[in-house]
Amino acid sequence: MAKINKHFLELKASYLFIEIARKVREFEENNPDKPVIRLGIGDVTRPIVPKVVDAVTDAMKDMGTFEGFHGYGPEQGYAFLRELVSKNDYQDRGIDISIDEIFISDGAKSDCGNIGDIFSVDNKVAICNPVYPVYNDTNIMGGRGENILYLNCTEENGFLPEIPSEKVDLIYLCFPNNPTGVVGSKEYLQKWVDYANNNKAVILFDSAYESFVTEEGIPRSIFEISGAKTCAIEFRSFSKTAGFTGMRCGYTVVPKDLILEGTSLNSLWNRRQGTKFNGVPYIVQKGAAAIYSDEGQKQLQENIKYYLNNAKYMKETLESVGLEVFGGVNAPYVWCKTPKNMTSWEYFDFLLEKCQIVATPGSGFGECGEGFIRFSAFGDFEKTKIAMARVKENL
Ligand code: MLT
Repeated sequence: MAKINKHFLELKASYLFIEIARKVREFEENNPDKPVIRLGIGDVTRPIVPKVVDAVTDAMKDMGTFEGFHGYGPEQGYAFLRELVSKNDYQDRGIDISIDEIFISDGAKSDCGNIGDIFSVDNKVAICNPVYPVYNDTNIMGGRGENILYLNCTEENGFLPEIPSEKVDLIYLCFPNNPTGVVGSKEYLQKWVDYANNNKAVILFDSAYESFVTEEGIPRSIFEISGAKTCAIEFRSFSKTAGFTGMRCGYTVVPKDLILEGTSLNSLWNRRQGTKFNGVPYIVQKGAAAIYSDEGQKQLQENIKYYLNNAKYMKETLESVGLEVFGGVNAPYVWCKTPKNMTSWEYFDFLLEKCQIVATPGSGFGECGEGFIRFSAFGDFEKTKIAMARVKENL
């Protein structure tokens, strides 16, 4: 008799954003005359910038010719894109990451989830609470559910958890943070890197939101921290940076200096990708490469500014009516305390029914998110303004 992976039964019945989508769909079906404003899932709304559109179009035209046709590509990504990533995102910022340490993928979500393949199920895993659910759920799926140690992120510790007294082996960190929008300083991250190096632990660093950092001195990469190349893996995404949520492209950096039990994690990841992944489409990688041109950069910075302006507007509006707000300065998320001590889901329902706004309930990211709601800044500005006016009116 075939048997299932029983660890799946340890998961909550539904993935957070699927559960929210279901609730919203139900509301829309019952209230067709009440259009909702979506500030829930962090999905971008600005169109792909012209420079990328041109590059993808040209690449598709190439594919229609004998000379320009591309079949299976390298599983690790085309050299043209890995070179651009290495130069622009690392070397030009004083970080020595070479192209064979970069693995192009279909996004940070997949890589954050798949990275567990190269680690033993015995590892003790430190995961923030609240947290992007992918780290938690994929560790449960992989059989590490009982080995998870939750790091409480609370208002008291500024949502920056201390290093636990109990020893941990794998540490998931995300900065700028999803969902709280807070950032970790260099000094703060240095403590984790030192801990990891001293304890042969590995930091799994999600920097999908690095392009939203606005303040000087805030690290965008874990590799800005001294010693990180011997203890950290970094996940990056073009989803939020360049509006690629529907195009699917990102990358993961596994330094060659990262050695565990005499084995290079770079080789293990390479082996894993070679077996289970067939690479990102050529045309998408050509689009991603266009991001690094001067014009491409200029165009996408406009979009990032647009989203950051939404975040600023939401933060200021919510604060002006006395709500307590975090994030929204170096991140596209505004993390807000619910009014009148409502639970996160109570306020979610209230916002949906009374204001026709979709937000994300903080408790969906873990118990420590209870009493908070997350607003995404990836919406349309005019709609965001309407949404904030409705929040104010209905306090
Ligand atoms: C979020 O809303 O937390 C993210 O957009 C989800 C994701 O990137 O998968």
